[in-house]
Amino acid sequence: MSSPQLRRRVGEVVANRALGNYRQLSVVVPTLPRRARPGQFVIAPPDASDRVLPRTWWIADERTEPGFGSTLDLVLREGGPAGVTLPEAGDSLALTGPLGRGFGLPTTPVTAVVVAQGDAGATGRWLCERLRARGSSAHLLSVAPNPEEHVDLVRARRSADGVVLVEPDSVLEALTALTSSTDAAVLYAVGPVSLSATVAGVAEQAGVVSQVTGVHLGGDDVGTDVCGHGLCGACDLPLAGQREAWLRPCADGPVVRGDLVDWEKVR
Ligand code: FES
Repeated sequence: MSSPQLRRRVGEVVANRALGNYRQLSVVVPTLPRRARPGQFVIAPPDASDRVLPRTWWIADERTEPGFGSTLDLVLREGGPAGVTLPEAGDSLALTGPLGRGFGLPTTPVTAVVVAQGDAGATGRWLCERLRARGSSAHLLSVAPNPEEHVDLVRARRSADGVVLVEPDSVLEALTALTSSTDAAVLYAVGPVSLSATVAGVAEQAGVVSQVTGVHLGGDDVGTDVCGHGLCGACDLPLAGQREAWLRPCADGPVVRGDLVDWEKVR
């Protein structure tokens, strides 16, 4: 297991704006040495004295302007866990990251399906934009329990060749159909580990590759149970074909190849 390289940067929150049921924080940090990628994340210190674990957020976008710095967009659920307050514009915010390897992009144009759930939908749309900028086609399967919880569908529809909205219970069926109808060569997943298990299973059935997130980050209650530093072991996943061998996604990922994990042991 490798440890994530810890790079804490003190940034300034330049915007905290509503995004439907979510909030988008824009944080300017000193210029990053290299561009951030979809699938990377940041860690912020605990926001309350009775909390021990840090906050972990997917990066939803990044822009770097010479002489100004790098702006990281972070999309969080409106309200978030009880007792959590978000920083306002003008506040300082110490962020560690961008962390992790992020999603790999195909070296030649292909058709891809990106599956994203909840606040991770913002990362999904960013990944679609990066895929299309490299000449691939990208279809977004946005997963949410009700229509209000799909992230920023206006931008999502500009970011992808097609957007399909689906509830969590219907992902398997919808993704199987979309993979077939688009003749997709690669499937991506960003969101809960249960979503990654489903997407990896569909990819295996279809005989295509998958890249999925192996740890549930984000601003909701589930995502706050992880340390993000490679220390707590809460994110460990069993490796396929090996007994008692584990992958620690927050340190070794968070993006992992779907066929590397024994998802049957995770369900
Ligand atoms: S989240 Fe703690 S070890 Fe991965």
